[in-house]
Amino acid sequence: MSSSSFAFQKCIAPQCGATYDVHEVQVACPKCGDLLDVQYEWSRVPLPAKLADFQRRWSERNDPVRFSGVWRFHELLPFAAQENIVTVGEGQTLLQQADAVATYVGMDAGCLYLQYEGMNPSGSFKDNGMSAAFTHARMTGAKRAACASTGNTSASLAMYCAVTRMMKAIIFIGTGKISYGKLSQALDYGALTVQIAGDFDDAMARVQEVSRELGIYLVNSVNPFRLEGQKTIMYRVLEALRWEVPDWIVVPGGNLGNSSAFGKAFSELRELGLIDRIPRLAVINAAGADTLYQLYERRHIRWQGGAANMGEVQQFYQEMDTEHRKASTIASAIEINRPVNLRKCLRALEACDGVVRQVSDQEMLDAKAKVGAGGLGCEPASAASVAGVRLLRDQGVIAASDRVVCILTGHQLKDPTATVAYHTTDQEQFNQVLASRGVRRASFANRAVAVPNDLGQIVKAIRLYS
Ligand code: F0G
Repeated sequence: MSSSSFAFQKCIAPQCGATYDVHEVQVACPKCGDLLDVQYEWSRVPLPAKLADFQRRWSERNDPVRFSGVWRFHELLPFAAQENIVTVGEGQTLLQQADAVATYVGMDAGCLYLQYEGMNPSGSFKDNGMSAAFTHARMTGAKRAACASTGNTSASLAMYCAVTRMMKAIIFIGTGKISYGKLSQALDYGALTVQIAGDFDDAMARVQEVSRELGIYLVNSVNPFRLEGQKTIMYRVLEALRWEVPDWIVVPGGNLGNSSAFGKAFSELRELGLIDRIPRLAVINAAGADTLYQLYERRHIRWQGGAANMGEVQQFYQEMDTEHRKASTIASAIEINRPVNLRKCLRALEACDGVVRQVSDQEMLDAKAKVGAGGLGCEPASAASVAGVRLLRDQGVIAASDRVVCILTGHQLKDPTATVAYHTTDQEQFNQVLASRGVRRASFANRAVAVPNDLGQIVKAIRLYS
């Protein structure tokens, strides 16, 4: 494809519906302030006749655009000409059938799959979206890029800047709020790291102001191009399932970019006649950061064709402020109380007949240990998806024989502190990192065995434990 002329940006509010050129840099509708979508005149896009045609691209994987798990699907996110595409080899990820985890959550063997986005170059799903945002940034000639982050977006931004040398990375993080694995990435890749005395929600509000004032390209998921890249996670899930639509997609919810992108991906595929049904979507909050759960399941806020009751949402936020309720969970990646993509996520939940649940830190860490024991390590937030399936099985919402895909959003090495504290024999370390968050036990801990530096004792210990 040589042209981006069939792409445009459009306000998601049906009563506004303002459109903008694809080259404009906006993270909100200048007319009404709502979120923007990237949209296409599909009738002009040279689409393959069926999804399976994308598979053939593998044979051309010496071409970086074909190698990319994002740009292999270029026709489904056709906002850029081929020569503007920025890729560092993202999206080489894996869908693994996980029978041991299936048993843990009460699913039949062969029915639970884990989509391991930790395999991305910066270790999280963010690279899918970042390659798309960088592609758009290149179209607009941006020189500096910023984000607020709980750690993974910043690691991804910093990495794309370091590899491509296209832009300078400026990242905003809450003091003490991001795990060491992620902080170390941003520092190593050379990002300008701004630590705000506050949490993610504070940093997110500030970075939007600063980007506006200084004309810096914002790569948080309010950037609609990010979400175009994240749609491809679903294309790869379908590809791995031989283009059969699963029954459920289960994803952790933080800023709600993924859930929004997944809903858009499936709505578009359905509209294009490339799939015949849409899977159900389950978004899983941490109990300590459960805004979506409260709004969707408790207050029954629905998209309603764009007429969602935002007055009640505002009232909820006001109560949160009055009571000084701050997000708090061991799953720092999703420690977010004001999800910026709330409205898009409501739209996705409607399109996918979705449900929202919340899980405790205890449930997440136990699920994380089970995922790790199965061989695909993930960070605490990612395990929310598995803990969520367990809950939905208990509640009978998901059937044991349903085909369920959990998205493992980030790599295990992102947050070693949480993992080591779970498995430790050091009660003080456990108390400090986990008991302080209400985690009472580590039922699936794999504890190190302490032995004296003595051959006989070592041999005895190995005989005893193996
Ligand atoms: N899982 C991980 C590992 C994440 O890093 C994030 C978000 C999420 C889940 C939530 O995804 O926002 O699409 O609902 N991390 C952002 C960051 C906020 O700054 O890295 P979402």
